[in-house]
Amino acid sequence: MMQDIKAVFYSEQQLQDKITEIGRQISEDYKDKNLMLVSVLKGSVVFMADLMRAITIPCEIDFMAVSSYGNKTDSSGTVRIIKDLDRDIAGYDLLIVEDILDSGMTLSYIKEILLARKPRSIRVCTLLDKPERRKSDIYADYSGFEVPNEFVVGYGLDFAQKYRNLPFIGVLKEEVYQ
Ligand code: IMP
Ligand code: MG
Repeated sequence: MMQDIKAVFYSEQQLQDKITEIGRQISEDYKDKNLMLVSVLKGSVVFMADLMRAITIPCEIDFMAVSSYGNKTDSSGTVRIIKDLDRDIAGYDLLIVEDILDSGMTLSYIKEILLARKPRSIRVCTLLDKPERRKSDIYADYSGFEVPNEFVVGYGLDFAQKYRNLPFIGVLKEEVYQ
């Protein structure tokens, strides 16, 4: 797998340091709230697993899955719920945990669906943000790193479903995409 990597963007240590910082902030902001972390599968599972352990207040977790990308590196614009949340979210302070905020299409759709279920609040925490690519009017309340307009993999993020198990975030060599 390593021979496909052109460059490492964020090392394991850089990721852990950032997540510790975000976890501390969330623990402070939500100390009197009813926190539920909602992870959007599959990309955000690695981030979710580390982030929840960096949060020091009681919280619940749930998962949902949507599809917006095939094996391409660009948004298709259509979003479909593949797995819905198990729990009723009314009365919870929801924090949507995302791997990357790119065009923002996926997240605006998810946010709209969840808002209709009357949670007490909804905010967004993303590990990576690509603001250059934004097509919808959405932003992250918590964000780890701003990345340039390049396709990144690792730490949960895939290219054609592979590379999610890399412990760092990096970019692939051009020939891998061919
Ligand atoms: P959006 O709807 O364009 O914001 O797409 C968000 C989703 O696209 C993310 O949750 C990722 O699954 C995927 N995605 C966007 N950019 C990248 C990338 O650079 N690498 C891997 N997946 C990406
Ligand atoms: Mg995702």
